[in-house]
Amino acid sequence: MQIYYFTRSGRSKKIAGELAARHQVQAEEIKDGKDWQGIGGYIKACLVAVKKQSLPGIYKKPVGEAPIALIFPIWAGTFPPAVRAFIKEVGREKIVCIPTSGGSKLKDRDGFIKVVDLVGSEIAAPAEL
Ligand SMILES: Cc1cc2nc3c(=O)[nH]c(=O)nc-3n(C[C@H](O)[C@H](O)[C@H](O)COP(=O)(O)O)c2cc1C
Repeated sequence: MQIYYFTRSGRSKKIAGELAARHQVQAEEIKDGKDWQGIGGYIKACLVAVKKQSLPGIYKKPVGEAPIALIFPIWAGTFPPAVRAFIKEVGREKIVCIPTSGGSKLKDRDGFIKVVDLVGSEIAAPAEL
């Protein structure tokens, strides 16, 4: 298992860290070079997500054929832009998709190995991975 994550406020990073420790691998961060902090960042993030925009992510390229666990926050019901680009580049068939959110489940679920929604204020790494 390879572990990749994108985070704004640290929840997805924490889950990625738990899974990485369990699998004894490094959790790799996907960055996009943007500042999404604050209320201005929040509004911008909602807008780009709603428009289904992609942003080239900055991350260490995956190697080999091991499945990729991808942990990220749901933004406005969908993928953050750098996560959208990562999924396009890597291919859904290689990804176990692990969205974190306050309440929403991911709607765009087809083609992934599996989707495991982590919903609500108390979330933990899924036991089955
Ligand atoms: C821009 C933005 C949009 C969000 N949209 C949703 C949403 O549509 N549904 C939901 O349940 N939570 C939404 N959230 C909450 C996050 O998905 C949730 O807090 C997530 O676990 C944060 O992960 P992170 O700490 O790794 O960034 C949104 C958060 C942000 C910043």
